[in-house]
Amino acid sequence: MPDSMSITAATVDPGLLDLPWDLPLDEWPDDTIAALPKGISRHLVRFVHLSGYVVAVKETSEELARSEYDMLRTLQRLDVPCVDPLAVITNRVGRDGEALQPVLVTRHLRFSLPYRALYSQTLRPDTATRLVDALAVLLVRLHIIGFFWGDVSLSNTLFRRDAGAFAAYLVDAETGKLYPGGLSNGQRENDLEIARVNIAGELLDLEAGGRLDENADPVDVSNGIVAQYRTLWGELTGTEQFAAAERWRINDRVERLNDLGFDIEELSIKTAEGGTQVRITPKVVDAGHHQRRLLRLTGIDAGENQARRLLNDLDAYRARNGRDELDEEMVAHEWVSRVFEPVVRAIPRDLRGRLEPAEVFHELLEHRWFMSQQEQRSVSLPEATTAYINDVLRHRRDERTLINPPTSSLALPIETDGVPVSPEDAEDWRANV
Ligand SMILES: Nc1ncnc2c1ncn2[C@@H]1O[C@H](COP(=O)(O)OP(=O)(O)OP(=O)(O)O)[C@@H](O)[C@H]1O
Ligand SMILES: [Mg+2]
Repeated sequence: MPDSMSITAATVDPGLLDLPWDLPLDEWPDDTIAALPKGISRHLVRFVHLSGYVVAVKETSEELARSEYDMLRTLQRLDVPCVDPLAVITNRVGRDGEALQPVLVTRHLRFSLPYRALYSQTLRPDTATRLVDALAVLLVRLHIIGFFWGDVSLSNTLFRRDAGAFAAYLVDAETGKLYPGGLSNGQRENDLEIARVNIAGELLDLEAGGRLDENADPVDVSNGIVAQYRTLWGELTGTEQFAAAERWRINDRVERLNDLGFDIEELSIKTAEGGTQVRITPKVVDAGHHQRRLLRLTGIDAGENQARRLLNDLDAYRARNGRDELDEEMVAHEWVSRVFEPVVRAIPRDLRGRLEPAEVFHELLEHRWFMSQQEQRSVSLPEATTAYINDVLRHRRDERTLINPPTSSLALPIETDGVPVSPEDAEDWRANV
């Protein structure tokens, strides 16, 4: 490592120091580069192997690298789904003494995909709609904390599968600004308009390249973000007024927000019109209602929709096994060891990179439902698991580490960490599920 180089980071992985910083990024040797799908960008971004994980390295100006690094750190602290900033490296000097561009290093978000890698032939209308819905949730979350994005687009977002839907993560914070006092309606509308125009452009671009399904209309889909955003924003922040006698409406509102995946951290309740009317407005809302509950009960860290799905199964397990009288935590522990973990362990090692465990579990439940419908009988979980692995999972692409776009091609897992299922585990499982 050249003496003059300077690194800003919270903690530095020593592996980072061994990378060939004295070469321009586009000349880095192939064996350092991880071939993963990437969105379109102005700056050069390349993925690089460190021990056990992958980082994204972006060559940019010092000013932009630093401000994006600081912004991503702030967003992480505020619990917004975004990529994790690791370091800013400046004063790079090349082998023949010339100055090289500063870089921003972020951690590659596992199992995330750019939207262009989410389909193999053409983007179907329902997939496009789900992408836009996920982006609307992200935008609402950002606006709630007072973040003006300024460059909302599908390319600046990464997507993770979330129980059949998607969860969106912010990847490019370069243009963003945080307003501690919150955003004005004009600022929110501005961001929303940027989103609509960018998404329409991105879809028109796919269409021109023959990569958009002919039933998908770029204008309709991009208008969808506006509608979706307004509905969600209204639910999360709108004021409701009702007669003082109808106080149960407060609980109703809380439950509606929980269903949407949000918790109310603070609610403003005011009486109006001489005390006969009550007016409520959520003041602070926090995303991740089901995620937090699942994490608390089971230690499983999943997406919001995945968590909702797993919790439904946990509740069903509790009812089915007459465990209602037991403590919720105890039942959850039992469910993890008897239902969830055996499924995860049953996945053959070579298929573990295909999907996240929580997503596998979700797909498995769908598959069991489908089999039960087809065969008009109730299919057991172990039976459905075998069928799912062979008939579905085996035929999926690897999503942990996809090879370069075009992404319909194959992939290599970068790590395997599972243990094969033992005969005793299998027996115990059959007896209990
Ligand atoms: N941490 C990361 N994990 C996964 N993918 C990443 C990460 N960082 C960057 N990428 C990929 O690289 C692409 C480009 O990154 P980014 O949008 O930050 O570059 P940019 O040049 O600032 O973009 P723009 O042209 O919008 O200014 C992203 O769309 C994403 O696909
Ligand atoms: Mg970008």
